[in-house]
Amino acid sequence: QRNKINVAIDGPAGAGKSTIARLVSNELGYVYIDTGAMYRAVTLTAMNNGILPDQENDIVELTRGLDIELIPEENGQKVIVNGKDVTQSIRSNEINQQVSKFAGVSKLRKLLVMKQQQLASSKGVVMDGRDIATHVIPNAEVKIFLTASVEERASRRYKEMLEKSPSIAISLEQLQKDISLRDQMDLERKASPLKMAEDAIKVDSTNMTILEVVQTIKELCIKKMGGDNHVIQND
Ligand code: CDP
Ligand code: CDP
Repeated sequence: QRNKINVAIDGPAGAGKSTIARLVSNELGYVYIDTGAMYRAVTLTAMNNGILPDQENDIVELTRGLDIELIPEENGQKVIVNGKDVTQSIRSNEINQQVSKFAGVSKLRKLLVMKQQQLASSKGVVMDGRDIATHVIPNAEVKIFLTASVEERASRRYKEMLEKSPSIAISLEQLQKDISLRDQMDLERKASPLKMAEDAIKVDSTNMTILEVVQTIKELCIKKMGGDNHVIQND
C-alpha cells in the first residue's frame, strides 16, 4: 500500500480534465470528484427556481438546501441532486452558457469549496475544476494544468455531442464561441479565477491521445507516492 496523495487537475473547458481525472482515479484506485458538476447542479436548480446570478443570498440559501451526490459509474458518473438524477440536464447548452455567471458568486464558491475540501480531507482523490490547485487543495501532491488549443477543445466537444445526439442544434462555430466566452469569464472573474498554480505542471494535450495524458499524470503520481522507495505500510 502506497502513501495516498491528492491530485488536482485544472484547466479550461474541453481540455480533457474529467476524462483524464476519471481514468487516473481508476488506475490509482482513487475517488474522482468533478467540481464542475457541483457548479452545474447549483446553476440548474437556481434556473429552475427563477434565481438570477446577482441574487447572491438566494443562491446561498438554495445551495445550503442541496444534497449533491456524485456517484461513480463505469463510463462516467451520475449526478443526483436532492434525489433527482440530473446527469444529463446539467450538460445542456443553456447550463453551459449560464454556469460561469453563477460560478462567479464568491459566497457560493465558499460553500462549495468547503464541501470539496471535506471530500479531499482523507486523501486519495483526483479532483478537477478551475481553482483546485490554487484554492481548494493547495497542498495537493500533484497539480496539473491541462490545456489544449481552443479549436481542439471545441472540436472534441463537437465530436462528443455528435456521438450522443446526432441531431444537435448547435454548430461547431457556435460551440467554439461559447467555449471562448466561458474561458474568458472563468479567467477574468474576481473570485478564484482560472489560473495555473505556480507549482503546477502544465500539460498541453492538443496533440496527445487520452492514453498519453493519463500515462504522463499517472507517472507523476507514482513518483510523488515515493515510487518504490518510500512505500508506507498502512497496518
Ligand atoms: O467540463 P467543462 O470544462 O465544460 O466544465 P465544468 O468543469 O463542468 O465546469 C463548468 C463551469 O463551472 C466552469 O466553466 C466554471 O465557470 C465553473 N467551475 C468553477 O468555477 N470552479 C470549479 N472548480 C469548477 C467549475
Ligand atoms: O472536463 P473537460 O471539459 O476538461 O474535458 P472532457 O469533457 O473530459 O473532454 C472533452 C473530450 O475530449 C472528451 O470527449 C474526450 O474523450 C476528448 N479527448 C480528451 O479528453 N483528451 C485527449 N487527449 C483527446 C480527446
